[in-house]
Order: sequence, then C-alpha cells, then structure tokens
Amino acid sequence: MAAQIINGKALSAEHLAGTQEAIIKFKARGIVPGLAVIIVGENPASMKYVANKEKICQSIGIYSRIIRMPAHTPQAEIETTIRQLNEESAIHGILVQLPLPPHLSTLRLLSLINPAKDVDGFHYQNSGKLFYGLPSLLPGTPKGVHEMIKSTGVTIAGKDAVVVGRSNIVGKPMAIILMNEDATVSVCHKLTADLKAYTSRADILVVAAGKPKLITADMVKPGAVVIDVGITYVDGKVVGDVDFQAVSEVAGFITPVPGGVGRMTVAMLMANTVEAAASIEAERLSSLG
Ligand code: GUN
Repeated sequence: MAAQIINGKALSAEHLAGTQEAIIKFKARGIVPGLAVIIVGENPASMKYVANKEKICQSIGIYSRIIRMPAHTPQAEIETTIRQLNEESAIHGILVQLPLPPHLSTLRLLSLINPAKDVDGFHYQNSGKLFYGLPSLLPGTPKGVHEMIKSTGVTIAGKDAVVVGRSNIVGKPMAIILMNEDATVSVCHKLTADLKAYTSRADILVVAAGKPKLITADMVKPGAVVIDVGITYVDGKVVGDVDFQAVSEVAGFITPVPGGVGRMTVAMLMANTVEAAASIEAERLSSLG
C-alpha cells in the first residue's frame, strides 16, 4: 500500500497561521516581533533561503532586517553587528545564515548571540537546555521534523528511531529530541559500516545526509515514518535523500522533497521569533516592576 504523504505545505501553513494570530495579538499591545538575519558572502543556496525567510516574515507581519556583508568581512565586524543587535529592542531574533566563509569562527559568532534571541537554537546555552530536556529555543529543522512526526499520530515513545546524519544543525538535536520523547535512537553517519542494518529496523527514519537516493526501498521497514531532510540541487531541481517513488511503496508515512521539511523549517523559525519576542517582552515587563 502506498504511504501517506506528510504534506509540509499544508502543515507549515497551519503553523504559520497560528504564529500570525499571535503576532496580531502582539501588535495590539504595540509590539512588532523583529528578526535580524546576517548573511556573509553570496552562497547561492543561502541567498535563496534568506530571501524566502524575508518573504515569509513579511507575509505574516514579522519585521525583518537582512544584513548583507561581503565574503571578506572580518570576524570583529560581524561580532560588533551581533553585539548591537543583542541590545536592540526592535530585534527579538538573530540568525546568522550558515555556512560562513572559512576565515570566520562560526562557533564564536553563534555563541555571541544573546541566547534569548537565538531563534536558530544554535547557542550552547540552548543546546544545553535541550540536552537536559528543559524548554528552549529549538533549531528549526529538527523542531519541524518533530511536528511532522507528531502529525502522523504515530507514538514516538518506545519506538526505534534512526537518524542518518550527525550535524549540529539537524542530526544531533534531532536525536536528542527523539530521545527526550523516549524513542530508542541510533545515529548513523558516513562511516556507519552497515547503514541498512540500522535503517531497516527503524519505525521512525529521519534522513539528513545530503546524498540523493541514499535510502532505497529495501532499506525501509514496512509502515515506517520516513522523513527526508535532504536538499540537493541536481540539474536545477531539488532532490532529497530518499528514493521517494520506491520508498513510498513500503513506508507508512513519507515526506516529499520539495514540499516537505524545508517549509516546516521556515515556519518553526517564525514560531521561534514570536516565542523569543514573548519571553523578552515578559522579561522587560517584569523588570519594570
Ligand atoms: N543553513 C542551513 N540550514 C540552516 C539553518 O537552519 N539555520 C542557519 N542559520 N543556517 C542554515
């Protein structure tokens, strides 16, 4: 039987609608949630992602400021920009688009962002909170994948979950989110000796390897939830890591590419910006006494 498609387009639209409602309430109190995005250099994929974030901000009423810096910008100049944004009351969320040019220290820049404004959830204070299962700003992609899994109605607790990819942006936080939900989690990567041995016993399979058609039908457990985080451009078309046609004959639920996880990532960023604005404004009110 063909798998049910987890429709990222429809699910992200639902989340954006909820976020937009929250923004309307904020605006009634004279507060406009604001997001600053720093992009260094002209990586074509990054430029596309940033343009999309700006468009979605505008469509739901978030104030957005894109700060474009040339590829050779010195580390100190970007640090100064982040410090200024940390202090600015119109900005509730700060995001540094990755990857950065090689002369820059990504970790140092990310750890300079005020953790309360860290809408990507990449600051070690937020990843530390995730590690301990405390409420925190969560990275958009794994947060979106979690929402997609929940939308299937499949129980996560007690299931075998396999995450393919161990990046700081997707794989690691995804594994922790699933562990915090009481799944039994395996994390595979490019040196995993027998990938199929892991993937074929996964009830929940999240693939974030960046390798087109890495996951074939024989590697998937019948009825599994398969989430494809891959985004690779092949002949001008975007493709995922999962052989969608073949795997959808085996899986119970599957995400398409495009129209899957990518849209959820942006929707979660918007939700995080509003969540950050709510915490910052509540803190500001309580400090006024
Ligand atoms: N580059 C690829 N994905 C992301 C993301 O989620 N956040 C940022 N800042 N950069 C990225």
